Amino acid sequence: MKVFVYSYRDFDEGEIFTRYSNEYGIELGICRDAPTLENAYLAEGYEYLSIITTEIDADLVTRFHELGVKMISTRTVGYDHIDLHKAEELGVQVGNATYSPNCVADYTIMLMLMSVRKMKRIMERANINDFSLPGNQGREMPNLTIGIIGTGKIGRTVIKYLSGFGCKVYAYDLFKHDDVKKYAEYVELDTIYANCDMISIHMPLGDSNYHLINQDSIAKMKDKVIIINTARGGIIDSAALIEGLESGKIGAAGLDVVEKEFGLYYYDLKSQVLDNRELMILRSYPNVIVTPHMAFYTDQAIDDMVHHSIKSCWLVEHGKENPWQVRCSR
Ligand code: COI
Repeated sequence: MKVFVYSYRDFDEGEIFTRYSNEYGIELGICRDAPTLENAYLAEGYEYLSIITTEIDADLVTRFHELGVKMISTRTVGYDHIDLHKAEELGVQVGNATYSPNCVADYTIMLMLMSVRKMKRIMERANINDFSLPGNQGREMPNLTIGIIGTGKIGRTVIKYLSGFGCKVYAYDLFKHDDVKKYAEYVELDTIYANCDMISIHMPLGDSNYHLINQDSIAKMKDKVIIINTARGGIIDSAALIEGLESGKIGAAGLDVVEKEFGLYYYDLKSQVLDNRELMILRSYPNVIVTPHMAFYTDQAIDDMVHHSIKSCWLVEHGKENPWQVRCSR
């Protein structure tokens, strides 16, 4: 069987793709660029595609379908970048890839600590030999109440880590997990907004939570709240976030994701004028840390992403149950 890989990266995925394609007896086609209508023809003759988080809209799904593609496997947990309705309509299967939640959970804790301890400001000032104290005072984790929105694998791992710090933790999710109840109390969103010093987002993006964090929800939050997002940019309304930061209602933010990041991450665009004003504004603030969607990026995660993408195509080809199959929920 053959799999065509878009956004193929030699430096970190190459050896892993070779290892797993040999293990599963798969012939690979590769393209280092993201899939587009212009380069879709490269996938002709391949029934399986492996992609990352680059937009696969209805036109591109249709084009791949015309070329004979029967499955699109994204080497990512999130699949909000794929038009699932179009895929379902055309009978193109979609799969995602899971990886250890530790990568994003570790990074979340790092962003939390950096935000609570004002690390961006401290480092920027220290780099220009400003070793003064005013403005650098932080807070201590055990004194904080933290709200975790979304208790999937990553949210649950963050909660377990936070229990080691002795924080009071509130959690929100429609699906309640018993193991969360050991370390946190499930509450409604409004209770999180009203009581938490820091709120961290760990939900997949869907129609129901687009701009969950908006002007209204921010107004319900504690003054000086810290917002952490390692999930998806679209869950936070950037304009409302900027307004909250400018008014001082929001004390700090740690953002590994922002709205409209398609086309920016993971390219070297240093010589270009970028078309994302909100990103530029957010990263200019001393109390906002913006990183380019890197929380996932560990050796273990890349191995898992490539392995699960390859294996999921192999399972479909061999008519076996595929645990990574994504279904369109209408
Ligand atoms: C995911 O796996 O869903 C991620 O967010 C990481 C991806 C951008 C490579």
